[in-house]
Amino acid sequence: HPKSLLRAIQEDGDHLSKMTNKHIYSADQFDRESLLQLFRLAAKYEANPDRFSTSLQGQILISAFYEPSTRTRLSFESAWHRLGGDIMSITDRSTTGIAKGESLADVGEMFNNYGDCVVLRDTNANSVREMMGALRIPIINAGNGTDEHPTQALADLYTIFKWKPELITNPGAEKINICIVGLPSKMRTVRSLLKLVVSFADCFGRVTIVNDKSRDEMFADDQLQQMLEAGLEVQTSDNLDEVLPDSDVVYINAIAWEGNSFNQYGKQFHIDSQSPLKKDAIVLHPLARGAELCTSLDNTPHNWYFAQARGAVFLRQALLTCLVRRVERVLDIV
Ligand code: CP
Repeated sequence: HPKSLLRAIQEDGDHLSKMTNKHIYSADQFDRESLLQLFRLAAKYEANPDRFSTSLQGQILISAFYEPSTRTRLSFESAWHRLGGDIMSITDRSTTGIAKGESLADVGEMFNNYGDCVVLRDTNANSVREMMGALRIPIINAGNGTDEHPTQALADLYTIFKWKPELITNPGAEKINICIVGLPSKMRTVRSLLKLVVSFADCFGRVTIVNDKSRDEMFADDQLQQMLEAGLEVQTSDNLDEVLPDSDVVYINAIAWEGNSFNQYGKQFHIDSQSPLKKDAIVLHPLARGAELCTSLDNTPHNWYFAQARGAVFLRQALLTCLVRRVERVLDIV
């Protein structure tokens, strides 16, 4: 329950105030204390969903999604509506000046006049940074090609800490093993999540990446090096059923958005209600799901993926509040 997370984290609004008017492009930007404070505020929203309906009154969100989305767009828009703000939504870049060759910098310059915050999903990994240079209002990366999806990772870690707040109150006492069925080099959700996990290396006993690729193909940049330097024990495996019995959190995904379409990686890995999961293991999935996550798990206690998607609304409320409004006004309410 979100209230157990409220009890686990001491409030320190200074860390949230520092986010005002910042651009959010990578999970790298969040340090441990900022993450905890963000999760605390999200838990506050989740525990009191009706108490904050005017925080963003008079503010306008520009919701620009140039790639398909169910959860990210609608949960950002739901979060903004729940805070009392208004929204302008663009779901097709060809309806804007981009179709006439207008640069993203020029579009960004115009956005400054029309709104108070931009949420952008774009296939091109560079778009968010191209626009950032021209923006005087904050922009949030809602998924840029195969690069990153930082707010999905925030929602993932928020879910894990709601499930086990002891990880925060008693760090190091009971480490959890996380199994990630996915490909960090191609999947933006996995890449961003692993960046956040690095900040909580004392909570995670072992990180096992399940895939059929070689270690070199699994990781992009120096991600593996950063994880090892943080003290994480990192393993790789191509045998999911061997890893599951020792995993407390199982994160599974098969889709990577590449170019103008998606590819599926590791389709042969699959979990269902007969899989050898630990009795109290939780399963997370950024969704949309494919055959890798069987619906037979939906009505079992392992299903935390629907809670993960629901929690993303409150997490995004918390982030939007910090970026757009002086967060003290919200912290004062409860
Ligand atoms: N998790 C996620 O990014 O889902 P959508 O593609 O539906 O936004």
